[in-house]
Amino acid sequence: MSTKPPVLELRSVDKSFGPIDVLHEISLKVGEGEVLCLLGDNGAGKSTLIKTLAGVHQPTRGQILMDGQAVSFATPRDAADRGIATVHQFGGTFPLMSIGRSFFVGVEPTKGWGPFRVYDRKTANEIAVKAVQSFGITRIDDGDRLVGGLSGGERQSLAIARAVHFGARVLILDEPTAALGVKQAAHVLRIVNEAKKRGLAVIFITHQVMHAMAVGDHFAVLIRGAIAADFRKGEKSREEITDLMAGGASMSSLEAEIEGYMASHDGHPPQVA
Ligand SMILES: Nc1ncnc2c1ncn2[C@@H]1O[C@H](COP(=O)(O)OP(=O)(O)O)[C@@H](O)[C@H]1O
Ligand SMILES: [Mg+2]
Repeated sequence: MSTKPPVLELRSVDKSFGPIDVLHEISLKVGEGEVLCLLGDNGAGKSTLIKTLAGVHQPTRGQILMDGQAVSFATPRDAADRGIATVHQFGGTFPLMSIGRSFFVGVEPTKGWGPFRVYDRKTANEIAVKAVQSFGITRIDDGDRLVGGLSGGERQSLAIARAVHFGARVLILDEPTAALGVKQAAHVLRIVNEAKKRGLAVIFITHQVMHAMAVGDHFAVLIRGAIAADFRKGEKSREEITDLMAGGASMSSLEAEIEGYMASHDGHPPQVA
């Protein structure tokens, strides 16, 4: 890597809703082929931050830069046009649509001419399946299948493959693994690594420290709307990160205690009587 400016940068961004200050002085950078993990407990301001990056909200103060140039997004469309893609927890896809259809929703390939122009199902299916398979999801091999029949991890993967296919440069993932089982989450983490290999700048939001550590190059911990810590891969242990997220409370020992309990009780968490 060189002196290239970061793909996306925030400089001292504040966001208030009327009298309520939600984000304070947020400064962050994410470069090509880099994964920035944004960690923070519920209510820390993670969603507000990504909505500000995705054009849903506008910063109250501060600047957003892309490739070193100040940008402003009046609408989510503006952010999307600049290559900022946001994938939400459930993939944001349409359960009753086929895989091919949902991949191309809004940009359907057509065949024929004038009034005879029709949606080219075969081409759409081929392109969609190929794109998803190139991410290693070989179980998706029929573009006619309904999105609703895919697992949570497969839906996420489809949404990520779609964003990459249509030229996203920044991929924002809001808690993509929160509702997934271990195997499914591993699936999504692999896709995140693949997106990174393809040179995307990835912002990965999570409160699962292990998931963050599996893909992150750079970490920022958000507490009550401010960056409480900002560090690179290898600089902090899992325990330190967990404690940071809890605002300095020693959560890691509690977590270890619960894990120990579960290990000796067939995976069941302690019950409150
Ligand atoms: N539109 C809004 N108006 C007022 N307060 C808001 C608004 N959106 C979010 N907040 C507040 O900002 C804080 C952070 O919320 P959020 O960004 O959703 O946190 P997280 O995603 O980290 O759980 C919360 O206290 C929430 O109530
Ligand atoms: Mg949130």
